[in-house]
Amino acid sequence: MKSSRIPGFYNMSVEQRRELLKNNHELTDEQMSSLTSNHPLSLDTANNMIENVVGTYELPLAMGLNFVINGKEYVVPMAIEEASVVASASHIAKIVRSAGGFEAESRERLMIGQIQVVGCSNFNEAKEAVLNQKDTLMRAADDAYPSIVKRGGGTRDLDVRILNDHEDSTYSQMLIMHIYVDTCDAMGANMINTMVEAIAPIVEEITNGKVYLRILSNYADRSLANAKCVIPPYLLATGDFTGEEVRDGVIHAYEFAASDPYRAVTHNKGIMNGIDPIVIATGNDWRAVEAGAHAYAAKDGQYGSMTTWSKDNEGNLVGEIELPMSVGIVGGATRVHPLAELSLSIMNIKSAAELAQVIVAVGLAQNLGALKALATDGIQKGHMALHSRSVAIAGGASGEMIDVIANKLIEQKEIRVGKAKELVEQYKQ
Ligand code: MEV
Repeated sequence: MKSSRIPGFYNMSVEQRRELLKNNHELTDEQMSSLTSNHPLSLDTANNMIENVVGTYELPLAMGLNFVINGKEYVVPMAIEEASVVASASHIAKIVRSAGGFEAESRERLMIGQIQVVGCSNFNEAKEAVLNQKDTLMRAADDAYPSIVKRGGGTRDLDVRILNDHEDSTYSQMLIMHIYVDTCDAMGANMINTMVEAIAPIVEEITNGKVYLRILSNYADRSLANAKCVIPPYLLATGDFTGEEVRDGVIHAYEFAASDPYRAVTHNKGIMNGIDPIVIATGNDWRAVEAGAHAYAAKDGQYGSMTTWSKDNEGNLVGEIELPMSVGIVGGATRVHPLAELSLSIMNIKSAAELAQVIVAVGLAQNLGALKALATDGIQKGHMALHSRSVAIAGGASGEMIDVIANKLIEQKEIRVGKAKELVEQYKQ
């Protein structure tokens, strides 16, 4: 595996970057053509994916660099419209690789299917009856999707809860049954939905109740992935700030998010800045990941931080993240969208669990990138540097001229397209 540390990538032309990627990752001509094509996702494919299609919608696809996770090098494809995100993630990944890289794991990968039963004459008896038939129900769920059992997955557990059990409850009493399914390398939404729909009539029979909803839960808290980094302060020093000052600023920033939902939402949005682009690039359902991640951030009763930052006995900054990560590497758009297939092969991902680990590690890096900037110079400095390049391009700059014009815009503190046009004219004379 080639190193994900590629000095100067930022300054290369798009063609040079593609060439480098092709060589380093041994991409085939066909894979390269999906990168170079104007329409990697053909209209025909798009038209078969969803309804009422009139076109396709593009986003920039960039590479997050420098990542080392569990000792493996990762160049991380990120599809996102926001400037600074990829640069910031790569900057932090470079610091963390000097500290030995990220450690990540996902111990369990079970997806949850829910069945809602109402109108039972005795809910406690209905619950007992379901538990008595646990094996039959689990077998029936597996029979509804035999291919997952052949692949080594299938239903692993089943449980039941009674909701709104109090007389003064505003809502109807109901029995909620969960099945827990090992979906192997698939995200598994279709699989779970097929299973719960198939066993619903049996559940009705057993409970003498009426089944309404039969659906996957996106609160995938039996499919958690976590990542950790430990960074000595000297690696964090920046500008006039010592490493210890940066470390303490990051910890205070975390404490702010941990104690205030107004800050936690923005803090977590910054984490999702790192997570969503990979989820999107790999053709996964980013709404599912978003919904699960935010719900998990409120698991202790108050919406809080998705990460923790602390200091260990040696004074190192320790960052940790744990999130539900319902992603797959087979099924859905992962193998339909040519760029999703390419993204997985650039990362050389072998399992859904591995993809989940990479995603949370990048989320952790993204969070540190934001907190480090916020606790020191503020984010506008970096943003403006990048923004000035876009403004320079919009003003007509190209090639080497871009950096010259961008720097002038920053120096003159006027980052406007009109000003860029003026400077481009002057440059050409
Ligand atoms: C901007 O997209 C993300 C940040 O606001 C995140 C944060 O405040 O932690 C910079």
